[in-house]
Amino acid sequence: MKITLLGAAGGIGQTLSLLLKIQLPSGSSLSLYDITSVIPGLAIDLNHIPTGVKVEGFNGAYAIPALRDANIVLISAGIARKPGMDRADLFHVNAKIIYDLMNQVASIAPKALIGIITNPINSMVVVAAKVLKKAGVYDKKRLFGISTLDIMRANTFVAQCKNKQPTEIEVSVIGGHSGITILPLLSQIKNIHFSNQEVIDLTRRIQNAGSEVVKAKAGAGSATLSMSHAAARFSLSLVRALRGEKNIVECAYVEGNGEYTNFFAQPLLLDENGIAEYLPIGVLSTFEQLTLNNMLETLKKEIKQGEEFVR
Ligand SMILES: NC(=O)c1ccc[n+]([C@@H]2O[C@H](COP(=O)([O-])OP(=O)(O)OC[C@H]3O[C@@H](n4cnc5c(N)ncnc54)[C@H](O)[C@@H]3O)[C@@H](O)[C@H]2O)c1
Repeated sequence: MKITLLGAAGGIGQTLSLLLKIQLPSGSSLSLYDITSVIPGLAIDLNHIPTGVKVEGFNGAYAIPALRDANIVLISAGIARKPGMDRADLFHVNAKIIYDLMNQVASIAPKALIGIITNPINSMVVVAAKVLKKAGVYDKKRLFGISTLDIMRANTFVAQCKNKQPTEIEVSVIGGHSGITILPLLSQIKNIHFSNQEVIDLTRRIQNAGSEVVKAKAGAGSATLSMSHAAARFSLSLVRALRGEKNIVECAYVEGNGEYTNFFAQPLLLDENGIAEYLPIGVLSTFEQLTLNNMLETLKKEIKQGEEFVR
């Protein structure tokens, strides 16, 4: 099993590399790529940790050597938010980076499962899909926007609100990965009842949790540690699915059946080919249905922006 991480020298990249080095199954290999020259040093640093995972580091203008024989490609390359910016402000810089890297993925690792971390996810996944389509290698079941952090935040905040263990809570989060497009399905959590005000407050907090971090880091970037944990969880689910384990379910932002928008975050059953099944989002409360209706215009706009970037 080979996992390639593009953008590996960044705040997310370095922590995610560490988590994968210590959590991937023995015998896996981890290939790190970034444009910065610290990469060979990171690989040596990680290789001093005694696990059965071999790490290789590549830097320079092209990711090609890092991508050879990759089963999973993760992309966290790009700029992160500063205070006062929303995810959409990152679009032009990051779309160009995703475009360039995806062209290399399309030619070197077209069969890999691909996880996009770079924001704005709602548009970057669409850019990635279009590059793969143009290259004639697109399989919508193999491309994912990693929205796992929304689930982790929802689990944490619900547990805080109801005085529960966060590890006992698993919230489905659907829609997209920006502001009002993030919709936690609180009504589906078993055995927990929320007041109307709690639903409104929790939903808002989950939608704006990224900004909480950006503001508190005061110019030093966005969420890196919690995001690395989220990306590690999602990547390890992909690894388990690739190794034939059954019943692996994760929410992610993918191209679906277009019931709401062409790209949509929803629960998915995973297998060795990526998405085995698009799982139903279930019954929504009136509040959730209204929030879903209200997000669609924004989500469609963000999808269109991604589509129009690749001609
Ligand atoms: N999906 C999520 O929930 C989520 C959460 C937090 C952050 N993010 C996003 O993840 C991205 C990375 O965040 P970060 O905090 O690690 O940023 P960072 O600035 O610390 O790291 C980005 C890395 O990308 C590298 N890079 C830039 N262009 C590259 C290229 N062409 N090829 C390879 N590497 C390249 C940089 O050298 C840097 O090391 C941002 O876009 C951020 O908004 C996503």
